[in-house]
Amino acid sequence: MLDSNYFYYTGATLNCDEVRLEELAGTFGTPLYVTSTRSLVDSYNSFEHAFAGLPHFTCYSVKANYNLSVIRTFAELGCGCDVNSGGELFRALQGGVAPEKIIFAGVGKKSEEIAYSLKVGVLMLKAESLSELRAIDRIAGELGKTASVALRINPNVTAETHPYITTGDSKEKFGIDEAELPEVFTLLRQMSNLRLVGLDMHIGSQIFDPEYFVAATVKLLALFNLSKTMGFSVEFLDIGGGFPVTYDPLKPATPIERFAEKLVPMLLPAGVTVIFEPGRYLVANASVLLTRILYKKHNHVGKKFFVVDAGMTELIRPALYQSHHEVQAVTRHDETFVADVVGPICESSDFFARQREIDAAEEGELLAVMSCGAYAAVMSSNYNGRLRPAEVMVNGRDVKLVRKRETLEQLVQNELF
Ligand SMILES: Cc1ncc(COP(=O)(O)O)c(C=O)c1O
Repeated sequence: MLDSNYFYYTGATLNCDEVRLEELAGTFGTPLYVTSTRSLVDSYNSFEHAFAGLPHFTCYSVKANYNLSVIRTFAELGCGCDVNSGGELFRALQGGVAPEKIIFAGVGKKSEEIAYSLKVGVLMLKAESLSELRAIDRIAGELGKTASVALRINPNVTAETHPYITTGDSKEKFGIDEAELPEVFTLLRQMSNLRLVGLDMHIGSQIFDPEYFVAATVKLLALFNLSKTMGFSVEFLDIGGGFPVTYDPLKPATPIERFAEKLVPMLLPAGVTVIFEPGRYLVANASVLLTRILYKKHNHVGKKFFVVDAGMTELIRPALYQSHHEVQAVTRHDETFVADVVGPICESSDFFARQREIDAAEEGELLAVMSCGAYAAVMSSNYNGRLRPAEVMVNGRDVKLVRKRETLEQLVQNELF
Protein backbone atom coordinates (compact mmCIF):
# COMPACT_ATOMS: atom_id res chain seq x y z
CA MET A 1 0.00 0.00 0.00
CA LEU A 2 1.27 3.46 -0.88
CA ASP A 3 0.55 5.60 2.17
CA SER A 4 1.52 9.23 2.29
CA ASN A 5 0.96 12.35 4.35
CA TYR A 6 -1.64 13.44 1.83
CA PHE A 7 -3.55 10.26 1.00
CA TYR A 8 -4.12 8.18 4.12
CA TYR A 9 -6.75 6.16 5.93
CA THR A 10 -8.58 7.25 9.03
CA GLY A 11 -10.24 4.08 10.20
CA ALA A 12 -11.51 2.42 7.04
CA THR A 13 -11.78 5.64 5.02
CA LEU A 14 -9.27 7.01 2.51
CA ASN A 15 -8.76 10.78 2.64
CA CYS A 16 -7.02 13.44 0.64
CA ASP A 17 -5.60 15.85 3.17
CA GLU A 18 -8.56 16.64 5.48
CA VAL A 19 -11.29 15.59 3.05
CA ARG A 20 -12.84 12.17 2.59
CA LEU A 21 -12.53 10.94 -1.00
CA GLU A 22 -16.05 9.52 -0.73
CA GLU A 23 -17.34 13.05 -0.15
CA LEU A 24 -15.52 14.36 -3.26
CA ALA A 25 -16.92 11.59 -5.46
CA GLY A 26 -20.41 12.40 -4.13
CA THR A 27 -20.06 16.09 -4.97
CA PHE A 28 -18.19 15.95 -8.28
CA GLY A 29 -18.90 12.48 -9.65
CA THR A 30 -16.42 9.99 -11.09
CA PRO A 31 -13.97 9.52 -12.75
CA LEU A 32 -12.34 12.35 -10.81
CA TYR A 33 -8.77 13.52 -10.47
CA VAL A 34 -8.00 14.67 -6.92
CA THR A 35 -4.80 16.64 -6.25
CA SER A 36 -3.35 17.65 -2.91
CA THR A 37 -1.95 21.18 -3.02
CA ARG A 38 0.14 20.53 0.08
CA SER A 39 1.78 17.58 -1.61
CA LEU A 40 2.78 19.78 -4.57
CA VAL A 41 4.26 22.38 -2.23
CA ASP A 42 6.12 19.79 -0.17
CA SER A 43 7.63 18.13 -3.26
CA TYR A 44 8.84 21.48 -4.53
CA ASN A 45 10.31 22.38 -1.15
CA SER A 46 12.10 19.05 -0.82
CA PHE A 47 13.59 19.49 -4.30
CA GLU A 48 14.75 23.00 -3.47
CA HIS A 49 16.17 21.85 -0.16
CA ALA A 50 18.17 19.07 -1.81
CA PHE A 51 19.81 21.44 -4.29
CA ALA A 52 20.12 24.43 -1.94
CA GLY A 53 23.92 24.25 -2.15
CA LEU A 54 23.92 25.08 -5.86
CA PRO A 55 22.98 28.36 -7.57
CA HIS A 56 20.02 27.07 -9.53
CA PHE A 57 16.65 27.81 -11.04
CA THR A 58 13.91 25.17 -11.09
CA CYS A 59 11.59 25.12 -14.08
CA TYR A 60 8.60 22.83 -13.56
CA SER A 61 8.09 20.75 -16.71
CA VAL A 62 4.42 21.49 -17.28
CA LYS A 63 3.91 18.56 -19.64
CA ALA A 64 3.60 16.36 -16.56
CA ASN A 65 0.46 18.18 -15.42
CA TYR A 66 -0.52 21.46 -17.02
CA ASN A 67 -3.69 22.20 -15.16
CA LEU A 68 -3.60 25.99 -14.65
CA SER A 69 -4.06 25.67 -10.90
CA VAL A 70 -1.11 23.28 -10.66
CA ILE A 71 1.04 25.69 -12.69
CA ARG A 72 -0.10 28.59 -10.52
CA THR A 73 0.76 26.71 -7.32
CA PHE A 74 4.36 26.38 -8.48
CA ALA A 75 4.49 29.90 -9.94
CA GLU A 76 3.50 31.30 -6.55
CA LEU A 77 6.44 29.45 -5.01
CA GLY A 78 8.81 31.24 -7.40
CA CYS A 79 9.27 28.29 -9.73
CA GLY A 80 9.77 28.76 -13.48
CA CYS A 81 8.37 26.53 -16.22
CA ASP A 82 9.67 24.31 -18.98
CA VAL A 83 7.25 24.19 -21.93
CA ASN A 84 7.25 22.04 -25.03
CA SER A 85 4.82 23.80 -27.38
CA GLY A 86 3.02 27.05 -28.05
CA GLY A 87 0.04 25.56 -26.23
CA GLU A 88 2.07 24.84 -23.10
CA LEU A 89 3.60 28.31 -23.32
CA PHE A 90 0.09 29.79 -23.42
CA ARG A 91 -0.88 27.67 -20.41
CA ALA A 92 2.20 28.71 -18.43
CA LEU A 93 1.45 32.38 -19.08
CA GLN A 94 -2.22 31.88 -18.18
CA GLY A 95 -1.08 30.13 -15.00
CA GLY A 96 0.77 33.28 -13.98
CA VAL A 97 4.37 32.39 -14.85
CA ALA A 98 6.41 35.42 -15.92
CA PRO A 99 7.80 34.97 -19.48
CA GLU A 100 11.35 35.51 -18.28
CA LYS A 101 10.91 32.40 -16.11
CA ILE A 102 9.89 30.18 -19.02
CA ILE A 103 12.20 27.99 -21.07
CA PHE A 104 10.99 26.54 -24.37
CA ALA A 105 11.97 22.99 -25.36
CA GLY A 106 10.84 20.76 -28.21
CA VAL A 107 12.40 18.95 -31.12
CA GLY A 108 9.87 20.29 -33.65
CA LYS A 109 8.97 23.90 -32.91
CA LYS A 110 6.95 25.55 -35.68
CA SER A 111 7.80 29.03 -36.95
CA GLU A 112 4.69 30.51 -35.32
CA GLU A 113 5.62 28.93 -31.99
CA ILE A 114 9.15 30.35 -32.21
CA ALA A 115 7.74 33.78 -33.07
CA TYR A 116 5.22 33.58 -30.21
CA SER A 117 7.93 32.77 -27.67
CA LEU A 118 10.18 35.56 -28.94
CA LYS A 119 7.36 38.08 -28.82
CA VAL A 120 6.45 37.25 -25.22
CA GLY A 121 10.14 37.17 -24.26
CA VAL A 122 10.90 33.75 -22.79
CA LEU A 123 14.17 33.20 -20.91
CA MET A 124 15.51 30.91 -23.63
CA LEU A 125 14.64 28.60 -26.49
CA LYS A 126 16.38 25.25 -26.36
CA ALA A 127 17.43 24.36 -29.90
CA GLU A 128 17.71 20.74 -30.92
CA SER A 129 19.27 20.98 -34.40
CA LEU A 130 21.27 23.24 -36.68
CA SER A 131 18.20 23.71 -38.87
CA GLU A 132 16.21 24.88 -35.88
CA LEU A 133 18.96 27.35 -34.92
CA ARG A 134 18.81 28.77 -38.44
CA ALA A 135 15.03 29.09 -38.17
CA ILE A 136 15.23 30.86 -34.81
CA ASP A 137 17.92 33.20 -36.19
CA ARG A 138 15.77 34.04 -39.23
CA ILE A 139 12.57 34.61 -37.23
CA ALA A 140 14.36 36.69 -34.58
CA GLY A 141 15.82 38.83 -37.40
CA GLU A 142 12.36 39.33 -38.92
CA LEU A 143 11.05 40.45 -35.54
CA GLY A 144 14.05 42.70 -34.88
CA LYS A 145 14.96 40.68 -31.78
CA THR A 146 17.94 38.81 -30.40
CA ALA A 147 16.96 35.29 -29.38
CA SER A 148 18.50 33.76 -26.26
CA VAL A 149 19.17 30.12 -27.06
CA ALA A 150 20.47 27.04 -25.33
CA LEU A 151 21.79 24.04 -27.24
CA ARG A 152 20.24 20.77 -26.22
CA ILE A 153 22.90 18.14 -26.53
CA ASN A 154 22.35 14.45 -26.96
CA PRO A 155 25.00 13.02 -24.60
CA ASN A 156 24.48 9.47 -25.84
CA VAL A 157 23.80 8.11 -22.36
CA THR A 158 21.21 5.35 -22.28
CA ALA A 159 19.48 5.65 -18.93
CA GLU A 160 17.88 2.48 -17.64
CA THR A 161 14.16 3.21 -17.70
CA HIS A 162 11.23 2.36 -19.94
CA PRO A 163 12.44 2.60 -23.59
CA TYR A 164 9.68 5.11 -24.41
CA ILE A 165 11.05 7.58 -21.86
CA THR A 166 14.78 7.41 -22.51
CA THR A 167 15.81 10.50 -24.45
CA GLY A 168 19.58 10.91 -24.15
CA ASP A 169 20.57 8.11 -26.50
CA SER A 170 21.91 8.66 -30.04
CA LYS A 171 19.20 6.36 -31.40
CA GLU A 172 16.60 8.91 -30.33
CA LYS A 173 15.49 12.09 -32.08
CA PHE A 174 16.41 14.44 -29.23
CA GLY A 175 19.19 16.99 -29.07
CA ILE A 176 22.27 17.80 -31.09
CA ASP A 177 24.85 15.07 -31.39
CA GLU A 178 27.79 15.88 -29.12
CA ALA A 179 30.21 15.25 -32.02
CA GLU A 180 28.43 17.95 -34.03
CA LEU A 181 28.84 20.60 -31.32
CA PRO A 182 32.23 22.08 -32.39
CA GLU A 183 30.81 22.78 -35.84
CA VAL A 184 27.61 24.19 -34.35
CA PHE A 185 29.60 26.55 -32.11
CA THR A 186 31.49 27.78 -35.19
CA LEU A 187 28.33 28.30 -37.23
CA LEU A 188 26.61 30.05 -34.33
CA ARG A 189 29.01 32.95 -34.70
CA GLN A 190 27.49 33.69 -38.10
CA MET A 191 23.94 33.83 -36.72
CA SER A 192 23.77 37.44 -35.70
CA ASN A 193 20.31 37.31 -34.14
CA LEU A 194 21.18 34.61 -31.61
CA ARG A 195 22.84 34.79 -28.22
CA LEU A 196 24.06 31.50 -26.77
CA VAL A 197 23.10 31.53 -23.09
CA GLY A 198 22.90 27.87 -22.16
CA LEU A 199 23.76 24.23 -22.71
CA ASP A 200 21.03 21.75 -22.00
CA MET A 201 20.27 18.04 -21.79
CA HIS A 202 17.43 15.78 -20.70
CA ILE A 203 18.28 12.10 -20.63
CA GLY A 204 14.89 10.59 -19.82
CA SER A 205 12.34 10.09 -17.12
CA GLN A 206 11.98 7.99 -13.94
CA ILE A 207 15.75 7.42 -13.75
CA PHE A 208 16.64 5.61 -10.53
CA ASP A 209 20.43 5.58 -10.78
CA PRO A 210 22.22 8.94 -10.28
CA GLU A 211 25.21 7.58 -12.23
CA TYR A 212 23.38 8.21 -15.52
CA PHE A 213 23.11 11.88 -14.59
CA VAL A 214 26.77 11.87 -13.62
CA ALA A 215 27.84 10.37 -16.97
CA ALA A 216 25.77 12.89 -18.93
CA THR A 217 26.91 15.81 -16.77
CA VAL A 218 30.57 14.91 -17.43
CA LYS A 219 29.82 15.34 -21.14
CA LEU A 220 27.86 18.54 -20.61
CA LEU A 221 30.74 20.02 -18.62
CA ALA A 222 33.25 19.06 -21.32
CA LEU A 223 31.14 20.89 -23.88
CA PHE A 224 30.80 23.83 -21.51
CA ASN A 225 34.61 24.02 -21.38
CA LEU A 226 34.77 23.80 -25.15
CA SER A 227 32.26 26.66 -25.43
CA LYS A 228 34.51 28.78 -23.21
CA THR A 229 37.60 28.08 -25.30
CA MET A 230 35.60 29.08 -28.35
CA GLY A 231 34.79 32.43 -26.78
CA PHE A 232 31.23 31.90 -25.55
CA SER A 233 30.15 32.79 -22.04
CA VAL A 234 27.31 30.44 -21.23
CA GLU A 235 25.27 31.44 -18.15
CA PHE A 236 23.09 28.35 -17.71
CA LEU A 237 23.71 24.63 -17.61
CA ASP A 238 20.39 22.81 -17.84
CA ILE A 239 20.40 19.25 -16.47
CA GLY A 240 16.78 18.51 -17.48
CA GLY A 241 14.32 16.46 -15.48
CA GLY A 242 13.94 12.73 -14.98
CA PHE A 243 14.13 12.42 -11.17
CA PRO A 244 12.27 9.36 -9.97
CA VAL A 245 9.21 8.77 -7.80
CA THR A 246 7.79 5.71 -6.09
CA TYR A 247 4.83 4.12 -7.84
CA ASP A 248 5.27 0.70 -6.32
CA PRO A 249 6.15 0.47 -2.62
CA LEU A 250 8.24 -2.60 -3.46
CA LYS A 251 10.39 -0.42 -5.75
CA PRO A 252 11.06 2.76 -3.79
CA ALA A 253 12.60 5.64 -5.72
CA THR A 254 16.15 6.80 -5.01
CA PRO A 255 15.84 9.84 -2.71
CA ILE A 256 16.47 13.17 -4.40
CA GLU A 257 19.36 13.82 -1.97
CA ARG A 258 21.36 11.00 -3.62
CA PHE A 259 21.19 12.93 -6.91
CA ALA A 260 22.13 16.20 -5.24
CA GLU A 261 25.12 14.60 -3.47
CA LYS A 262 26.58 13.64 -6.84
CA LEU A 263 25.57 16.62 -8.95
CA VAL A 264 26.18 19.60 -6.66
CA PRO A 265 29.96 19.09 -6.30
CA MET A 266 30.29 18.44 -10.04
CA LEU A 267 28.39 21.54 -11.09
CA LEU A 268 29.38 24.07 -8.45
CA PRO A 269 32.86 24.80 -9.88
CA ALA A 270 31.34 25.76 -13.25
CA GLY A 271 30.18 29.00 -11.65
CA VAL A 272 26.93 29.17 -13.62
CA THR A 273 23.24 28.92 -12.78
CA VAL A 274 22.05 25.34 -13.07
CA ILE A 275 18.55 24.79 -14.41
CA PHE A 276 16.48 21.76 -13.41
CA GLU A 277 13.31 20.69 -15.19
CA PRO A 278 11.54 18.25 -12.86
CA GLY A 279 8.06 17.18 -13.89
CA ARG A 280 7.13 13.82 -12.45
CA TYR A 281 9.04 14.40 -9.20
CA LEU A 282 6.92 17.42 -8.32
CA VAL A 283 3.48 16.08 -9.17
CA ALA A 284 3.25 12.28 -9.55
CA ASN A 285 2.28 11.45 -5.99
CA ALA A 286 0.10 14.50 -5.48
CA SER A 287 -2.97 13.10 -7.27
CA VAL A 288 -5.22 10.07 -7.40
CA LEU A 289 -7.80 9.03 -9.95
CA LEU A 290 -11.08 8.19 -8.22
CA THR A 291 -13.24 5.67 -10.00
CA ARG A 292 -16.43 3.81 -9.16
CA ILE A 293 -16.85 0.05 -9.50
CA LEU A 294 -19.57 -0.56 -12.08
CA TYR A 295 -19.54 -4.35 -12.15
CA LYS A 296 -17.78 -7.30 -10.63
CA LYS A 297 -17.43 -10.32 -12.84
CA HIS A 298 -15.58 -13.59 -13.02
CA ASN A 299 -15.06 -16.15 -15.74
CA HIS A 300 -14.77 -19.91 -16.10
CA VAL A 301 -10.96 -19.90 -15.67
CA GLY A 302 -11.41 -18.27 -12.30
CA LYS A 303 -10.39 -14.75 -13.24
CA LYS A 304 -12.05 -11.92 -11.37
CA PHE A 305 -12.55 -8.41 -12.68
CA PHE A 306 -13.54 -5.08 -11.27
CA VAL A 307 -15.02 -3.12 -14.17
CA VAL A 308 -14.69 0.55 -13.21
CA ASP A 309 -15.92 3.80 -14.74
CA ALA A 310 -12.43 5.12 -15.60
CA GLY A 311 -10.26 3.66 -18.31
CA MET A 312 -7.23 4.19 -20.49
CA THR A 313 -8.89 7.37 -21.76
CA GLU A 314 -8.34 8.90 -18.32
CA LEU A 315 -5.05 7.14 -17.48
CA ILE A 316 -3.10 5.64 -20.36
CA ARG A 317 0.15 4.93 -18.50
CA PRO A 318 -0.45 1.21 -17.81
CA ALA A 319 -1.33 0.66 -21.49
CA LEU A 320 1.45 2.86 -22.88
CA TYR A 321 4.33 2.15 -20.50
CA GLN A 322 3.20 -0.99 -18.64
CA SER A 323 3.42 1.23 -15.57
CA HIS A 324 2.42 0.17 -12.10
CA HIS A 325 -0.20 2.08 -10.10
CA GLU A 326 -1.36 1.03 -6.70
CA VAL A 327 -5.14 0.59 -6.53
CA GLN A 328 -6.74 1.13 -3.13
CA ALA A 329 -10.30 0.74 -1.92
CA VAL A 330 -11.67 4.04 -0.68
CA THR A 331 -13.48 2.12 2.04
CA ARG A 332 -11.36 -0.67 3.40
CA HIS A 333 -12.54 -4.27 3.72
CA ASP A 334 -11.05 -7.02 5.85
CA GLU A 335 -11.15 -9.51 2.99
CA THR A 336 -9.19 -9.23 -0.23
CA PHE A 337 -9.13 -11.12 -3.50
CA VAL A 338 -6.99 -11.20 -6.60
CA ALA A 339 -8.53 -9.42 -9.56
CA ASP A 340 -7.91 -7.29 -12.64
CA VAL A 341 -9.10 -3.69 -12.51
CA VAL A 342 -10.31 -2.81 -15.98
CA GLY A 343 -12.07 0.08 -17.69
CA PRO A 344 -14.94 0.37 -20.14
CA ILE A 345 -12.87 0.99 -23.31
CA CYS A 346 -12.92 -1.48 -26.20
CA GLU A 347 -9.25 -2.39 -25.92
CA SER A 348 -7.59 -5.25 -24.06
CA SER A 349 -4.90 -2.78 -22.97
CA ASP A 350 -7.57 -0.93 -20.97
CA PHE A 351 -6.56 -1.96 -17.46
CA PHE A 352 -5.15 -0.36 -14.33
CA ALA A 353 -3.99 -3.51 -12.56
CA ARG A 354 -3.70 -7.17 -13.42
CA GLN A 355 -3.90 -10.05 -10.96
CA ARG A 356 -3.64 -7.67 -8.03
CA GLU A 357 -4.73 -8.30 -4.46
CA ILE A 358 -7.52 -5.79 -3.89
CA ASP A 359 -9.94 -5.23 -1.02
CA ALA A 360 -13.18 -7.10 -1.62
CA ALA A 361 -15.14 -3.95 -2.45
CA GLU A 362 -18.69 -4.13 -3.80
CA GLU A 363 -20.29 -2.73 -6.93
CA GLY A 364 -20.96 0.98 -6.45
CA GLU A 365 -17.96 1.46 -4.16
CA LEU A 366 -14.91 3.56 -5.02
CA LEU A 367 -11.35 2.68 -5.90
CA ALA A 368 -8.46 5.14 -5.92
CA VAL A 369 -5.76 4.67 -8.54
CA MET A 370 -2.71 6.14 -6.83
CA SER A 371 0.19 8.28 -8.08
CA CYS A 372 -1.79 9.83 -10.93
CA GLY A 373 -0.36 13.35 -10.87
CA ALA A 374 2.12 13.03 -13.75
CA TYR A 375 1.46 12.18 -17.40
CA ALA A 376 -2.07 11.17 -16.47
CA ALA A 377 -4.82 13.82 -16.81
CA VAL A 378 -2.75 15.55 -19.50
CA MET A 379 -2.83 12.41 -21.63
CA SER A 380 -6.59 11.88 -21.31
CA SER A 381 -8.51 11.57 -24.56
CA ASN A 382 -11.98 11.42 -26.06
CA TYR A 383 -11.46 7.96 -27.58
CA ASN A 384 -14.64 5.89 -27.45
CA GLY A 385 -16.58 9.16 -27.11
CA ARG A 386 -15.42 9.62 -23.55
CA LEU A 387 -15.71 12.91 -21.68
CA ARG A 388 -12.49 14.10 -20.06
CA PRO A 389 -12.87 13.92 -16.28
CA ALA A 390 -13.23 16.69 -13.74
CA GLU A 391 -10.27 17.67 -11.56
CA VAL A 392 -10.33 19.03 -8.01
CA MET A 393 -7.63 20.38 -5.74
CA VAL A 394 -7.68 19.93 -1.99
CA ASN A 395 -5.83 22.10 0.49
CA GLY A 396 -6.56 21.17 4.07
CA ARG A 397 -10.37 21.20 4.18
CA ASP A 398 -10.62 23.51 1.20
CA VAL A 399 -11.80 21.93 -2.07
CA LYS A 400 -11.71 23.63 -5.48
CA LEU A 401 -13.01 22.36 -8.79
CA VAL A 402 -10.09 23.19 -11.11
CA ARG A 403 -11.36 21.55 -14.28
CA LYS A 404 -14.98 20.88 -15.15
CA ARG A 405 -16.02 17.55 -16.55
CA GLU A 406 -16.44 17.75 -20.32
CA THR A 407 -19.93 17.73 -21.75
CA LEU A 408 -21.46 15.87 -24.68
CA GLU A 409 -21.74 19.22 -26.52
CA GLN A 410 -17.98 19.76 -26.17
CA LEU A 411 -17.39 16.40 -27.81
CA VAL A 412 -18.73 17.71 -31.13
CA GLN A 413 -18.16 21.44 -30.82
CA ASN A 414 -15.39 21.69 -33.42
CA GLU A 415 -17.07 19.59 -36.05
CA LEU A 416 -18.69 21.17 -39.10
CA PHE A 417 -21.74 19.24 -40.09
C1 LIG B 1 12.90 18.37 -22.09
C2 LIG B 1 12.24 17.77 -20.91
N1 LIG B 1 12.45 18.30 -19.71
C3 LIG B 1 11.87 17.80 -18.59
C4 LIG B 1 11.02 16.72 -18.66
C5 LIG B 1 10.39 16.21 -17.39
O1 LIG B 1 10.78 14.93 -17.09
P1 LIG B 1 10.33 14.26 -15.72
O2 LIG B 1 8.86 14.37 -15.65
O3 LIG B 1 10.80 12.87 -15.80
O4 LIG B 1 11.02 15.03 -14.63
C6 LIG B 1 10.78 16.12 -19.89
C7 LIG B 1 9.90 14.94 -19.99
O5 LIG B 1 9.75 14.29 -20.96
C8 LIG B 1 11.39 16.66 -21.05
O6 LIG B 1 11.16 16.14 -22.26
